[in-house]
Amino acid sequence: MNLAMDLAYLGAHRVSPNPMVGCVVLDKSYKLLGYGYHERFGSAHAEKNALANVSKDDIKGAHVFVTLEPCAHQGKTPPCADYLASLPIESLTYGLQDPNPQVAGRGIEVLKAAGIKVYEYQGQDKKRLHDLLDSFLFHLEHKRPFYVLKVAVSLDAMIRDGFGESQWITTEEARTHVHFLRSRFHAVLVGKNTILRDNPKLNVRHEDFPNHRNKVIVINSEADLLNKVMELQFYKIRDPHDVYIVCDKSALQEYATEHIEGSLYLEKQTGVQLLALDFASGLPLSAISTSLYAQGIYNVLVEGGSQIHSYFLENQSFDRLYYYQAHKILGGKDALAWTSQVKFSVQEPLQLSLVNTFDFEKEKLMIFKKS
Ligand SMILES: NC(=O)c1ccc[n+]([C@@H]2O[C@H](COP(=O)([O-])OP(=O)(O)OC[C@H]3O[C@@H](n4cnc5c(N)ncnc54)[C@H](OP(=O)(O)O)[C@@H]3O)[C@@H](O)[C@H]2O)c1
Repeated sequence: MNLAMDLAYLGAHRVSPNPMVGCVVLDKSYKLLGYGYHERFGSAHAEKNALANVSKDDIKGAHVFVTLEPCAHQGKTPPCADYLASLPIESLTYGLQDPNPQVAGRGIEVLKAAGIKVYEYQGQDKKRLHDLLDSFLFHLEHKRPFYVLKVAVSLDAMIRDGFGESQWITTEEARTHVHFLRSRFHAVLVGKNTILRDNPKLNVRHEDFPNHRNKVIVINSEADLLNKVMELQFYKIRDPHDVYIVCDKSALQEYATEHIEGSLYLEKQTGVQLLALDFASGLPLSAISTSLYAQGIYNVLVEGGSQIHSYFLENQSFDRLYYYQAHKILGGKDALAWTSQVKFSVQEPLQLSLVNTFDFEKEKLMIFKKS
């Protein structure tokens, strides 16, 4: 199952909105016969790929290990459960039951009806299976995007030095990892100042994913970014339709009096999508989530800056925190990853639990979820 999980991750950047799935096939003596993963949305599922080069003779009495219950519905490809049920396999072990209402246990029933022994994986790495499918499981259950906060800081949690320089806090190794991380998300969300101060591209620059296309959501209540957006890198390098500017409804009147609050408006001059909402009580994240979800944006990497980070921390609106911490101290003040508005008491802190860690040469990545 561990190998199946490793394989599943290889499809990370291409399978969404489908889940990442990996599959390993052993022969009747438990020797490796085949392996595969779901490589891209619309293409063959992991089980099909794992069995692609296995002969009819070898498959007799084989054991299949797959990270997610085989599908039981006709989607872009035929149901895997029916396909597996037609084979003389001995057993199938699945990692997690598929919560998709079109499957939800039906895949297991089909296999059992065909006389295949079906087991749910109960090994030590069950937690890793949940991590693998966190965003997929989340959006199916909650019907809103999965928000991951990404923060890159010095040891003293600074995102800028005392001289105002904010770029390159982490080394290339960690930045390459950030590009890998971005490849798993439909969109990046940032505040207006991050766009204006850093003029970032916010795309995926990773040799393994040369053509990956992501969307950018900018929080800009006044919509004043529209005046200069065409000069900015993040706009220039992507289709304008992939840029969403979220603003207060009062700002939009200048651009479209006929616009309906909460629905997307394609701004004619720039081609970006404007989402006008009511900011009277602060950032309307719930309404933003509803709109993004309706657009098929199921996971969002929240990249900052400090005001944005503060909002997500104060309101506990994030689902994971990816904390890249460089082995260096910058000192200074007013350059914390979040503002001083974020305050929790010792008795009731914002308690996090560690999901995973990765050590790079000059920084560490810690992945947290709320406890
Ligand atoms: N190290 C890192 O991980 C990292 C990542 C990203 C950015 N940064 C750094 O962060 C700095 C920018 O941070 P920042 O705090 O100045 O600005 P920011 O969070 O990027 O943007 C602030 C703007 O976003 C909108 N906004 C943010 N939160 C809002 C809320 N709760 N309600 C309404 N509007 C909201 C507002 O736009 P309007 O004024 O239009 O209302 C606000 O002026 C840059 O120097 C950048 O380099 C660091």
